[in-house]
Formats: sequence, structure tokens, C-alpha cells
Amino acid sequence: MSETSKKPQTDSNFSEKMTDILNYGALNLAMSIGYQLRLFDVMDEMSRPATAAAIASAAGLDTRYVTEWLAVMVCGGIIDLHADDSGQDIYDLPKSHADMITRRAGNANLGVYTQEIPLLTTCAMKSVVKGFTSGDGVGYEHYPKFQQFMTELADAKHQQVLVDIFLPSVDDGRLIQRLQSGIHVCDLGCAEGIALILMAQAYPGSAFTGIDVSGDVIAKATRTAAEMGIRNIRFLQRDAASLEDIREFEGSFDYITAFDAIHDQTRPMDALKNVRFMLKPNGLFSMVDIAASSYLSENRLHPMGVFLYTVSLMHCMPVGLVDGGAGLGMMWGRDRAVDMLKSAGFDHIDVTEIPNDSFNLHFLCKIC
Ligand SMILES: C[S@@+](CC[C@H](N)C(=O)[O-])C[C@H]1O[C@@H](n2cnc3c(N)ncnc32)[C@H](O)[C@@H]1O
Repeated sequence: MSETSKKPQTDSNFSEKMTDILNYGALNLAMSIGYQLRLFDVMDEMSRPATAAAIASAAGLDTRYVTEWLAVMVCGGIIDLHADDSGQDIYDLPKSHADMITRRAGNANLGVYTQEIPLLTTCAMKSVVKGFTSGDGVGYEHYPKFQQFMTELADAKHQQVLVDIFLPSVDDGRLIQRLQSGIHVCDLGCAEGIALILMAQAYPGSAFTGIDVSGDVIAKATRTAAEMGIRNIRFLQRDAASLEDIREFEGSFDYITAFDAIHDQTRPMDALKNVRFMLKPNGLFSMVDIAASSYLSENRLHPMGVFLYTVSLMHCMPVGLVDGGAGLGMMWGRDRAVDMLKSAGFDHIDVTEIPNDSFNLHFLCKIC
């Protein structure tokens, strides 16, 4: 090794980048605390600059903690710092920022995602670090808080998009006509049944079956549907990869959906083959999954590539590795998804973007 190669090289660009990484990582954590405590919403409602004591009081929180949190937000450029007439510090959340990080922001709310990495850290940091040595997966049971968070996100998204925007877009509106006339629908990986319940309410003449491997979510979905008095729905606890032994399922569904529910599975190929097994001739399968490329060289340019790969590393990949599973990870991407759908027996696959949902792609599979 030459003398020069031993000397530390100073790369000022990378040094700046490291400073950004440390600052933004810390800022994300502090923002997630503020989001959880509704501090952004409170400041937005105050709609004028206020002292730390006034903000703490409006939020029902401790002034010293809020003051320290405000310092992070000011240094991070989230909140503006001014002085009142007496020279006291007052803080302002600009409306243009509030429009993107408060609960009232709806679909544009990016603030809610600040919670994702801290939650995953709490749930799975130790197990994931262990996985690097053992290669073992990490079971869903490690992630109860994260699952609850994802359910809230999915709930908000399905409420806004599913019935009014997504379903009418399927098969150029023909699905809606079939749903109105009465068909059999199945949702794989239905979790607490949010999507299925919305569909069952909108189309009372059709029959809906929800399948999930988790007994807890199936029990909750069943309870919710019963409490709401919805009769055209049933929920079954089953592994989507082991449905081929249910003879009544063979060729019995007109429409099957899987919302964000294939890439996490330990045996996704078997699950896709079972979709094919369960569909009627003329049946449709909507797989909604992350909008990404199957090639790292292309995902490198994805504006949220770091974030999405980290969520995959901390959750999607390890849950998919349990029991020697496939561990596809969230960023399996469009080409790999299409290849797997073809191998499962789908000969006609249409991949489209979804209005109001830039995170996902719609893989519409038809049996021709
Ligand atoms: C990310 S959640 C998606 C939930 C729901 N589809 C939605 O839109 O919010 C993935 C779901 O797939 C379920 N799941 C994972 N592996 C499964 C399997 N092998 N069979 C059936 N469900 C499975 C999980 O229990 C979880 O409820």
C-alpha cells in the first residue's frame, strides 16, 4: 500500500452528506414524537406565532420538553423562530409546511410517515441485527405496534381511494357492472378487513371472502363486520399458500384482490398459484403492490429508495424469511412480479399506475 493511500482522504461532499444524515435521522425521530403528540396540529390550529409555554399549554404538555423539541424543529427548518415585542422567542409553523405534515393534510400528509422508522426500530432492531448472523426471519408477532400503524394508514387510503377511484378503474369500468349484478370476491391478506368491508357495503348483491394467516386480525375483522351488520361477508384464517386443498375454492371467485399482501409472504409463488386455482374462467385478479423496479440500478434514482429499502430491511424481508421463506422484500419490483404472475399461470397482465396512490402499482391479471 502506498503512503498516500494510507492517509485519510477528505471528501468534503461526503463529509457534508454525513452531517446531513446525522441531522436528518435525528430530525425524523423528533418529528415523529411531535406528530404523535399532535404538536404540529396544535401549532397549525393556533395559526400565529406563539411562545413555547403557550404551545405546550395548548397541547397539554410540559413546557421544558416542548421547548427542547421546538429547538430541534427550528434547527431542522420545520418551524420558524421569531421574537415578540418583548424579545421573547416565539415559534411559527408555516402554513406551507403544515399542509404536508398535519392530520388535516389527508393524502398529502407526509408527517405520518416520520413514525415508520422509529416504530420499526422499537419493534425489530435487535431481531434484525441478529438476523444478519443467523439468516433467520422475524415473525409478525414482533411488530404489533407497527401493524397497528400500517392498519391506520391502509384504513385512510382505502377510505379515500378504493370504492370511488380504484374499483371503477378496473377493467374499464366492467368490474363495477359485475359487482352490481352479484359476484364472488376474495381478498387475500385482508388483515382487519377494511378493504373488504368497504366493498361489501358498496355492493350488497355480491359475496365477499377475506383470508389472512393471522388469527387475531381475522377475529377482529369478523367482529367488526358483525357489529356493522354486514351479512355478505365472511373471514377465514388460512395461509394463502395452502388453499389448494379447499375444493369449494376451485374456480369459484370472479374477482380476487391482494393489497400490499404478496411480497411479505413466505411462499408468494404458491399464493399466486392459488389465486389462479381459485379464479373462475373470465376471472380477474388485482394485485396492488409497491411501485418499484426489480433492479437496484434503477431504484437508486427512486426519490424514496432509501426509506422504502429500509422499511423492507426492517419488516417486509424478515417476515418473508420466516421458516426458510422467500423473503422477497418490498422492492421486488415490477419485472419480478410480472415474471412470477406469468409462472403462476396468468397470461394477460396489465400494469398501471393508481390515481391518488403513487406508492403502488396495479397488476391486473385476466384469464383469457
Ligand atoms: C401489509 S398487510 C396488508 C393488509 C391489507 N391487505 C391492507 O390493504 O391493508 C399484509 C397482510 O398479509 C397477511 N399475510 C402475510 N402472509 C400471509 C399468508 N401466507 N397468507 C395470508 N395472509 C398473509 C398479514 O397477516 C397481513 O395482514
